[in-house]
Amino acid sequence: MAVLASDALAGRTIAVTGAARGIGAGIVEAILDAGGNAALIDLDQTVAAETAGRLDADGSRTLAVGADVTDAAALTDAAASTMRRFGSLSGWVNNAGIVRMGPAEAITADGWDLEFRVNAGGVLLGAQAARQAFAGRGGAIVNIASNAGKVGFPNMAAYNASKAAVINLTRSLAKEWAGEAINVNAVCPGSVATPMLRAVADTLEREGKGDAATLFAAMVPAQLGRHITPLEIGRVVAFLLSDAAVIIRGQAINLDGGETPY
Ligand SMILES: NC(=O)c1ccc[n+]([C@@H]2O[C@H](COP(=O)([O-])OP(=O)(O)OC[C@H]3O[C@@H](n4cnc5c(N)ncnc54)[C@H](O)[C@@H]3O)[C@@H](O)[C@H]2O)c1
Repeated sequence: MAVLASDALAGRTIAVTGAARGIGAGIVEAILDAGGNAALIDLDQTVAAETAGRLDADGSRTLAVGADVTDAAALTDAAASTMRRFGSLSGWVNNAGIVRMGPAEAITADGWDLEFRVNAGGVLLGAQAARQAFAGRGGAIVNIASNAGKVGFPNMAAYNASKAAVINLTRSLAKEWAGEAINVNAVCPGSVATPMLRAVADTLEREGKGDAATLFAAMVPAQLGRHITPLEIGRVVAFLLSDAAVIIRGQAINLDGGETPY
């Protein structure tokens, strides 16, 4: 089912961090469906290349790049290789993220720093690399926050706080860069069937909360009655990258099947 016109992102190149698997791979698929090119940036370049090969058999519209979103120079290099390959860059999706489960009283300073460095710092560095690559010509940035950044789920306090930071950073960047024709928005997914959600269920099983498969199956939005797919998130992100979304600015849009009413 195509939601956007097959040329909605034609002639556009968009970089997606954390694109090797999960939501990032769904975003790449939606960008390709809408006629765009995609750079798949991930810590895991091997899987990023496999995903690119699966989604773009002849390799003409994708590029896999190895980079850590906590490394500003690596992101600048990734943007430069993308522009060498496709000639320009006009969209960037800050999707890479990690979650570490555990009670708030057990979070260490290092653990807190790690989640903030990847989840919030990685968004800032990615946005800076994007702005530099846009070179005054404008563009669109979409940050993948989480409904956790609004709700605050138990046993993931640092993750929740880092995602709240992404939501607020999105508002700041939207205001600061509006004059450069850069549109910045965030989305707040929940219950998306990915390796991360499975890892959360595995952690809960290790903590004696039940069987991982049963826990995973229960992590569905009540109104929807099923998991959300990465491609469903990707389609909304692709829309936010398109010119049609120019009136949506600095927002944090829930993509969680109705779980979060604010
Ligand atoms: N799955 C969900 O239900 C859900 C809900 C809300 C928000 N999110 C957010 O969506 C994003 C993607 O989540 P997912 O479920 O697809 O996760 P995932 O763990 O399945 O995939 C994440 C990808 O990011 C990459 N990555 C991790 N750290 C990186 C780093 N430092 N630099 C570069 N790449 C890195 C990983 O290699 C992996 O390919 C994350 O920001 C996550 O917090 C997920």
